[in-house]
Amino acid sequence: MIYKRRSIRSFSDEEVSDSLIEEIIKDASHAPSWQNSQPWHVYVAKEGVLERIKAAYKNATKNNLPSEPDLTTPHRADRSELSLANIEHWGDSVKSAIGDEGTSDPEFQEARANLYHAPAIAFLTASNKASEFTLFDLGSFGQTLMLSAASWGVGTIPAYSLVKYPDILKKELLIPDNQELVVGIAMGYPDDSKLNCIKTDRTSVDNILNIRK
Ligand SMILES: Cc1cc2nc3c(=O)[nH]c(=O)nc-3n(C[C@H](O)[C@H](O)[C@H](O)COP(=O)(O)O)c2cc1C
Repeated sequence: MIYKRRSIRSFSDEEVSDSLIEEIIKDASHAPSWQNSQPWHVYVAKEGVLERIKAAYKNATKNNLPSEPDLTTPHRADRSELSLANIEHWGDSVKSAIGDEGTSDPEFQEARANLYHAPAIAFLTASNKASEFTLFDLGSFGQTLMLSAASWGVGTIPAYSLVKYPDILKKELLIPDNQELVVGIAMGYPDDSKLNCIKTDRTSVDNILNIRK
């Protein structure tokens, strides 16, 4: 499943049933966490609520509203050389799958602007006083969620672009003020768009592993 999962950026119209979403979230809740604190909450947007979020995001983008995610975004200058090389390599993977324009490709942009046309989006939240270890817990939860979904044939993408307007999400999803948006994970059944042909690889294990004896 680890090798089968990959980010899906274009979904068919087929719904993901509430019962399957419950099953996937139950699997995800078996992720490890600090003192088993299970510091995550999940808000899944579907149907009318999701349509309103999509419309509000489009409007925000049209009006050049600056994106203000609750979490800080990484600065390029703080990246390691290896990370920068990996990011560049990712750009090449995108180009070879969808064309020379890469992420500027109109289809890529359209998909992002429409929240990948996902029929369901799971938004993960934590206390707004969360420590960095709590964010580790939510990362484990998110990966377990995505692997469980893949085992059911449900495609996913975790995306910053889904949480760039937290105020819209808090209003539509009735998220209390003491919680912050960590990430959105779009869910649905993959269609046959070229956007789903982006195949990423990984740097050699030699570049990341240090075994000391
Ligand atoms: C925290 C996080 C945020 C991401 N945000 C975006 C995003 O905004 N747009 C996007 O196209 N992909 C986004 N991705 C997906 C990554 O590009 C993708 O996971 C990476 O290229 C590896 O590809 P794979 O998921 O297909 O294995 C995000 C991934 C993570 C973990």
